[in-house]
Amino acid sequence: MYAVEFENITKSFGLLTVNDKVTFGVKENSVHCLLGENGAGKSTLMKILFGSYKQDSGTIKIRGKEVKFKSPLDAIDEKIGMLYQHFMLIDEFTIWENVVLGNEMNAGMKLDYKKIKYRLNEIIEIYNLGLDINKKICDISISQEQKVELLKLLYRNSDILIFDEPTAVLSPVEVNEFFKIIEKFKADGKTIIFITHKLNEVKELADRVSILRKGQLVYETDKADIDVQKLGKEIIGNVEVAESPAKISPNEENKKSFIELKDVTLIKDKVKVLDDITIDIRRYEIHGICGVEGNGQQELVDVILQFEKNISGTVMMKDERVSIVPDDRYKRGMIKEFTVGENLILKKPSEGLISKRTVDTASQYIMKKYDVRAPSAETPIGSLSGGNQQKAIIAREIEMQQNTMIFYHPTRGVDINATAFIHSEIVSLRNAGKAILLVSSDLDELLKLSDRLSVMHKGRLIKTFDETELSSGNRNNLLEQIGKLMIGIH
Ligand SMILES: Nc1ncnc2c1ncn2[C@@H]1O[C@H](COP(=O)(O)OP(=O)(O)O)[C@@H](O)[C@H]1O
Ligand SMILES: [Mg+2]
Repeated sequence: MYAVEFENITKSFGLLTVNDKVTFGVKENSVHCLLGENGAGKSTLMKILFGSYKQDSGTIKIRGKEVKFKSPLDAIDEKIGMLYQHFMLIDEFTIWENVVLGNEMNAGMKLDYKKIKYRLNEIIEIYNLGLDINKKICDISISQEQKVELLKLLYRNSDILIFDEPTAVLSPVEVNEFFKIIEKFKADGKTIIFITHKLNEVKELADRVSILRKGQLVYETDKADIDVQKLGKEIIGNVEVAESPAKISPNEENKKSFIELKDVTLIKDKVKVLDDITIDIRRYEIHGICGVEGNGQQELVDVILQFEKNISGTVMMKDERVSIVPDDRYKRGMIKEFTVGENLILKKPSEGLISKRTVDTASQYIMKKYDVRAPSAETPIGSLSGGNQQKAIIAREIEMQQNTMIFYHPTRGVDINATAFIHSEIVSLRNAGKAILLVSSDLDELLKLSDRLSVMHKGRLIKTFDETELSSGNRNNLLEQIGKLMIGIH
């Protein structure tokens, strides 16, 4: 029995056909992975299923019956739930208020808060979500926000669950937790549609895989026949992925430090969020930082950006200004409602007004150079695919031509092609003598790019691997060692 059947779903935005006669079925009580590059049309198809968009043609069947959703409310009535790529929670409200909001609260009924809270805590217990429902959203981490969204779906008893790139914002340990939750969903008889860019996750979880390329269904396979390399090929089609340039070796005297932190400690709410950090970031070097999210990475970056002044220890910097590609592009990197062009010049120091012509010329140049694909510079940046948004932000930061650059999760939620492009840009910047700090939770990325690699745990830098340690020895041993360090075993 199929939980969901897509039959010839077609959807265009203007001249662009985003879903092109897409036909496939999702079996009940299975994990179905939907793959494809940024812009392939995955989110659009899921939004159609969830009733946020309406298809131009084609039909959707739920449990064998054709449905015509007018809005997500109709989908929710059919017990469909969607975990969006971008969370929709209200910062100043508590977790339980956010869950109830949009359910009962709208109905204007008098609520039995005690009962609701009891039920929420029950779900948290069953699924091991580890949430305190009285905490405000602004006080919890991204991975916890995601669990709040899951709590919402579970509270509504959804049994067809759409997860749109849920693991893009999670660290390896959190991904494992998330997988356990998915396995529990499946054990409970739920159906899961799971979008991801990480093919090893597909191998681990999927019962069946469907791949979209440029809006068309190009490949499907069952669990038994999943071949990760084949999936990679089908996702990108017949195009060459950019290779990163070889790293050049600078002269010793050129390896000057541009940033030096010495014995830096930062205390917040009586907790040492940075504990005696000593680190330097040198020219011609990519210094990788790895760790489970929330172990001081953000604070380290904030100290370098001089957002945190209340520190002990010393910070020496060659320049005042540092470029940053931030971890949360929606909160810190761009203004969604502004056009691509406006976002590209957002940080340009200027005297007075900038003419539209200047914006247009500059942004067209940058879009071409960095292959930012958008209908035009006047498209709101929020409507581009994640990879193109990220390329735009990276382009803007590179064009600022600072000596020191921070890349914080530069390829999170970005597809194979755009990731290769971004990696190659980072290596080129290093080869041009920039000092680069790379904070990431993607170990493959860190090992591929870093000249030195430091592991953070509970605000401390517990180990720095130098170039020789990174390049010699067995990669699996190295991975295991780093994995252990990340959870504090050394
Ligand atoms: N509301 C919209 N208006 C115009 N274009 C859109 C809109 N939503 C998505 N698109 C375009 O549709 C294409 C597919 O997007 P999407 O479904 O988000 O891809 P994916 O989720 O596979 O990365 C992209 O080129 C995107 O820019
Ligand atoms: Mg998407």
